[in-house]
Amino acid sequence: MDISKIKILQNVNIYGNTYLLTLQQSPSILKAKPGQFVMIFPGQEFNPLLGRPMSIHRINNKEKTFSILYHTIGIGTNILSKLKKNERVKIIGPLGNPIPFNHASKNFLLIAGGIGIAPLVWLGDTLVANNKNVTMLIGGRSKNHIFPIKKLKQEIEVEIFTDDGSLGTKGLATKKINNFLSWTDEIILCGPEPMFVSAHEIIKQYDGHIPAYALFEKEMACGIGICYGCAIKDKKNNPQLVCTKGPSFELSNIYL
Ligand SMILES: Cc1cc2nc3c(=O)[nH]c(=O)nc-3n(C[C@H](O)[C@H](O)[C@H](O)COP(=O)(O)OP(=O)(O)OC[C@H]3O[C@@H](n4cnc5c(N)ncnc54)[C@H](O)[C@@H]3O)c2cc1C
Ligand code: FES
Repeated sequence: MDISKIKILQNVNIYGNTYLLTLQQSPSILKAKPGQFVMIFPGQEFNPLLGRPMSIHRINNKEKTFSILYHTIGIGTNILSKLKKNERVKIIGPLGNPIPFNHASKNFLLIAGGIGIAPLVWLGDTLVANNKNVTMLIGGRSKNHIFPIKKLKQEIEVEIFTDDGSLGTKGLATKKINNFLSWTDEIILCGPEPMFVSAHEIIKQYDGHIPAYALFEKEMACGIGICYGCAIKDKKNNPQLVCTKGPSFELSNIYL
């Protein structure tokens, strides 16, 4: 983990209210793995005081850059969207743990809801580079909330779902999970918690155990296990800190 003021190389709106922030790589980011995140401090002074957790979206080792995909939702992300090329931004990271997928598995089903696509793109890149078969179900409110699929590795099979039917199939991405249960060895999800609940309902009824990992997005004050603000409960009612134990947890172990 490193604390550094990192140079912005690009900060552009790529769809709807979603931006791609490209930053110069720091030596410790180089060692990060899909699923890990950084705390980014968008304000140049102390407003906002706290950092904002953001998944590492992609790392480009050739160009020595990494990127963050974020949507503007409140004060921090709106300030972030105004930062310009060559300005510097304070980053702490990498934080959290990599997605603990099984390297022996062959067929992976990734399910992204809204901005939950952010960490799954790099996971998809990594799985394809390791000769895995990847299908991605991508859901969003409308076509303005869907990541451009031409930016994904072409080996990935993609299905799009929108709430209003403006792109792909109308309805929720989770409604297609059943079609993949006899094919997939592992399921990895990132998105809103109601998506995890409905996915878990479907997966647990399948005759056979398929590991399903979900990346939780809790509000975080410190990102390093001090404030206890990011706790979720496991099935035994024990608190689990998303920042230090997660952000990926096996769905069947978490109290939803
Ligand atoms: C491990 C992790 C990885 C994340 N990765 C990404 C990412 O790659 N891209 C991205 O756009 N966002 C990501 N998030 C969510 C992101 O951190 C929040 O959207 C961001 O902190 C909002 O900051 P803000 O100042 O704009 O909003 P605020 O002004 O702080 O809040 C605006 C609204 O958003 C809600 N909110 C704030 N933080 C969260 C949160 N973590 N989850 C759900 N609701 C929240 C608040 O309750 C409030 O209603 C991630 C969160 C975690 C924990
Ligand atoms: S964010 Fe402070 S303990 Fe997790």
